[in-house]
Amino acid sequence: MKKVYIETLGCQMNKSDAERMYGMLEHQGYTQTDEPRDADMLVINTCSIRQLSEDKAYSQIGVWGKWKKNRPDLKIVFAGCVAQQAGEKLFRRAPYVDLVLGTQRLYELPELVKRIENGERVVSIEEKPYEESDIQINRVKSVNAWVPIMEGCNNFCTYCIVPYTRGRERSRKPELILNEIKKALNEGFKEITLLGQNVDSYGKDLEPHQNLSWLLRQINALEGKFRIRFVTSYPTDITEELIDTVIELDKVCEYFHIPMQSGDDYVLKKMNRRYDYATYKKICENIRSRIPDVTITSDFIAGFPGETEKQFQNTLRAMSELELDYSNTAAYSPREKTVAAKWVDLYIPEDVKTDRLARLNEHNRECCLKSNQKYVGREMEVLVEKLENHDGQSIITGRTRNNKIVHIPYDKDITGEFINVKITSARTWYLRGEMIN
Ligand code: SAH
Ligand code: SF4
Ligand code: F3S
Repeated sequence: MKKVYIETLGCQMNKSDAERMYGMLEHQGYTQTDEPRDADMLVINTCSIRQLSEDKAYSQIGVWGKWKKNRPDLKIVFAGCVAQQAGEKLFRRAPYVDLVLGTQRLYELPELVKRIENGERVVSIEEKPYEESDIQINRVKSVNAWVPIMEGCNNFCTYCIVPYTRGRERSRKPELILNEIKKALNEGFKEITLLGQNVDSYGKDLEPHQNLSWLLRQINALEGKFRIRFVTSYPTDITEELIDTVIELDKVCEYFHIPMQSGDDYVLKKMNRRYDYATYKKICENIRSRIPDVTITSDFIAGFPGETEKQFQNTLRAMSELELDYSNTAAYSPREKTVAAKWVDLYIPEDVKTDRLARLNEHNRECCLKSNQKYVGREMEVLVEKLENHDGQSIITGRTRNNKIVHIPYDKDITGEFINVKITSARTWYLRGEMIN
């Protein structure tokens, strides 16, 4: 048996793609290995959201390229978002790569592998989705199954590379999604997370039109006890119907990930986000007033071109004013082809960006701790994810419906069980609790 190793960088969509690649490659006679040195085929699943992630991809294949000198039969596959952009050009930079696989050609992998096995070097980055077939998916052993429901983006925020790497918005057919979910539930998964760059745009491109609320109702109707989550939501695509649906459906969790990016109206405009702060605030407050204990998380960029100190402070203020439960943060990184990358004169110096990011992170920590403290003394349902040893103590960790991580002293592996827990204390990144019998 030949062996394949996949290195995944970037978002959950890439992780989900890797599970699909492992499944397809197993059909081609490759078994999965966690040891790259043992592999006959090495795949890197790349991310280009920031320069740093792109650099990581190139340095990793650089290492693999050296290995290939002594092992000419080794196959190297460069996949994902950087591959989509690099195309042919990659061969000049990394002549040892056998296959450049674009994001929309994922399901073509079995055919392309046959070709590289015959000694061909292949680029497949056409911006036309290769028809999806009913493939095996080798999911990471866990309680949560990632299920992409849509891919691509039509929003063209001025800083973002995703519309160029993932193409235009495409929704997967409901029957494919539901079949995939049924299989995952049969395999014992207890939580289904629906994935998409903008999940709340789901179905606009389908005939007949569908929407996320409709899809959630279909999934909620499936038998068994399990949870449903969905990420990421574009703020202004969250409809009243979607909020009603989250309230109405027992399996859908009280959790929204709604990136704000900046708390300043001028910066939001320059980012080409389609809302101002007041609009975001209204959406957030509406959700909070209607869904008790809802967790709302966000993403922010520090040091967008031209951002003034005052504008940055509006972001800090927004984070606290809306009591955001957690935020992903990043310093602005110019991306080739995007509009904002051309505003070189407005670039914020590195040291200022670093300082703003540090302050943003400090603010984030305060918001997280404050959010966690709300739950001390409360009883919450936890889905157990794993048993771990923390400095000699056995701890089970899991998540509440509203996506809070909880650590509970316990010495049996009850992964996959739903338990009731009393929250005893709050830390910045997690809660501590005790099992209630
Ligand atoms: N579709 C989601 C975001 C997907 S990209 C949305 O619209 O919000 C994930 C996150 O990466 C973004 O929310 C943004 O905060 C960050 N990001 C994207 N491009 C970036 C860049 N050029 N520099 C820094 N962070 C960036
Ligand atoms: Fe990127 Fe904006 Fe699309 Fe999100 S909505 S993926 S930030 S372009
Ligand atoms: Fe990165 Fe592509 Fe995801 S750029 S964040 S892997 S969609």
